[in-house]
Amino acid sequence: MQSQIPDASSRPSFQDDEKTAASPPRPEGADLQVGNAMSRRHMLAASAGALVGASILSRAEAATTQTDIGDKAPHVNFSLAGKAALVTGAARGIGQAIAVALAAAGADVLGFDICAEAAPHLVYEPATPDDLKKTGELVEAQKRRWLGVQGDVRDMPALKAAVERAVKEFGKLDIAIANAAIQFYGPLAELADEDWKNVIDVNLNGAANTLRAVLPHMLARKYGRIVLIASGQGRHGFKNASAYSASKWGMIGLMKSAAWEVAKEGVTINCVEPGLVDTPLTRNPGRWKEALKEAGKEPKENVTEQEVIAARLPTAVMGIPWMQPDEVAPAVVFLCTDAANRVTGATYDATAGDSVKYTA
Ligand SMILES: NC(=O)c1ccc[n+]([C@@H]2O[C@H](COP(=O)([O-])OP(=O)(O)OC[C@H]3O[C@@H](n4cnc5c(N)ncnc54)[C@H](O)[C@@H]3O)[C@@H](O)[C@H]2O)c1
Repeated sequence: MQSQIPDASSRPSFQDDEKTAASPPRPEGADLQVGNAMSRRHMLAASAGALVGASILSRAEAATTQTDIGDKAPHVNFSLAGKAALVTGAARGIGQAIAVALAAAGADVLGFDICAEAAPHLVYEPATPDDLKKTGELVEAQKRRWLGVQGDVRDMPALKAAVERAVKEFGKLDIAIANAAIQFYGPLAELADEDWKNVIDVNLNGAANTLRAVLPHMLARKYGRIVLIASGQGRHGFKNASAYSASKWGMIGLMKSAAWEVAKEGVTINCVEPGLVDTPLTRNPGRWKEALKEAGKEPKENVTEQEVIAARLPTAVMGIPWMQPDEVAPAVVFLCTDAANRVTGATYDATAGDSVKYTA
């Protein structure tokens, strides 16, 4: 059994009317209360915090008297017309699908990808410059502008230069998708230093670099939509994948803390966690062996796709063994629209139902 590959006509359609959804800032401190009975320790703490409290309360005063809170206009604007986006890891797989979906929604796209072996010992083929070129053709087929940049997310100057180029050629940068990553399997006790470090360095440090490269520009403009592509494996453990799982779990912490820092400056930051998606990262015997082990089977030397599908189907919540990249991209697009203005610090699972097994 094969999972369905959606054709172009099943891609999401987005409305074209661009409407700014600027709305009053959400009130703070509306639920601040001071208790009647205070211990001496509490009084000291309260007076030490009095200055801070006074300023919070004065800002909250307007909010407590105001009952008409929030933007009452219906948010039906899923268009990204006139926006400009940076996508890391855009040469293929999920990054390519996101770049094309953003373009389909109206955004110009700068795709950034190493297009080479990102680390030794990976069991799958690296992306190539031709892959990145292909993404460019798909973006341009959506009648949007495209810039392809070869670079490594571990290289901060390269990322900053890419941001500068996007700003110069597109006029600004509204959206950033931190998608580039590598995956490595091996028991923790036997993991070589360099394998651990490379996974953390590309996935977690690379995402942090991407944030640090785009945030100054977005904060200056008081507008930004950032999405980090984490993973289901950042929401639960996975045997023999401690480095990858730790990097993805770390990305969720990075996202939540950074989202809080910039929330009042018009910048939102969220994570999307795909389940198993059919890309070069996963379509290889090395990853298939891990999928069989996950299903409690002992893999033979030559694992076939059919064996993996048969092993996964009995517990597949939506009845498919894996998803296609195009099925993840629309969740990312949504988080970049003005319809998601009040969504930040959140994790969105796009897992074909695997997330029913997470605790919350
Ligand atoms: N495929 C899945 O099942 C799955 C599941 C959950 C999460 N994810 C995540 O989705 C994202 C995309 O994965 P994919 O499956 O499309 O993988 P992929 O290997 O097909 O694509 C990843 C892209 O990132 C690029 N890249 C890698 N290291 C880089 C670096 N240092 N600098 C710049 N570019 C670099 C690669 O060249 C490649 O084009 C990753 O963050 C991955 O962890 C994938």
